[in-house]
Amino acid sequence: MSHPGRLENKVAIITGGGLGLGEGIARKFVHEGAKVLLFEINAANGSKVASSLGSAHALAFEGDVTKLDHWQSAVQTCIEKLGGLDIVVNNAGVVHNAQASTEVPEAEYERIMKINVSPLYQSAKAVHPHFKKQGHGVFVNISSISAPRPRPNLVWYAGSKGAVSAVTKGLAAEFAKDGIRCNAICPVAADTGMMASVLGGTDTEEGRAVVMKGIPLGRVANAVDVGNAACFLASEEAGFITGIELPVDGGRALQ
Ligand SMILES: NC(=O)c1ccc[n+]([C@@H]2O[C@H](COP(=O)([O-])OP(=O)(O)OC[C@H]3O[C@@H](n4cnc5c(N)ncnc54)[C@H](O)[C@@H]3O)[C@@H](O)[C@H]2O)c1
Repeated sequence: MSHPGRLENKVAIITGGGLGLGEGIARKFVHEGAKVLLFEINAANGSKVASSLGSAHALAFEGDVTKLDHWQSAVQTCIEKLGGLDIVVNNAGVVHNAQASTEVPEAEYERIMKINVSPLYQSAKAVHPHFKKQGHGVFVNISSISAPRPRPNLVWYAGSKGAVSAVTKGLAAEFAKDGIRCNAICPVAADTGMMASVLGGTDTEEGRAVVMKGIPLGRVANAVDVGNAACFLASEEAGFITGIELPVDGGRALQ
């Protein structure tokens, strides 16, 4: 007997869905029956992933997650072209090269804060009226294990993700009465294009070995790990879970 997918008949916006963890989340969601809108600033990558998933399941949307009018248009596009909106995954994010905190250029600090934090505001503004009206909705926000466990050299990044985690919990408390759940995922260093920055600018075997030493399960995270966690939190299996930070970290935060 075949079982329905965990996200059957659901529609999701996935920001940064054209690469890395966002692509993994999109693939898992489609595998579990969802339709996805890939909200990407990199139009070529968004279109590539959408066409590999098939036009019946995925649509690329070119936009900048820091802009409220882009969010409003993404929500409208979802409703008109995909038939609704049930889930928002705030995944798009950026990191600075790991380095001493006082050496990070001011423009880089401002870029990190803007791209990692402000979309939580814009997505809440644009999506909450729709979720409230239909009486349900889910936000899954990609934070980082550096939020609860900050360490040297990625301090401003950790600060931006601390804001993601705090805002997720605050919105969970505020939106619960509207039937809306909000949860965060906290991955450890993952095997994406971000790895080079996390290692200080260059992705090397030696650098990875140092990171892996701090992860009890002995490897870095990947897009499948994060896609699975996002699927669970977005699904009705997690219907009584809101306001959590779920580590996907191989035990990193234990040390
Ligand atoms: N890779 C890691 O080690 C790691 C660890 C913990 C948390 N995270 C978080 O996971 C998320 C995804 O990271 P990743 O490693 O897949 O990164 P990535 O660089 O591989 O992909 C990020 C995607 O976001 C898109 N994007 C960036 N700015 C955007 C904007 N303003 N509007 C729309 N799209 C935009 C990019 O075009 C890109 O496709 C980020 O929030 C990151 O902070 C990553």
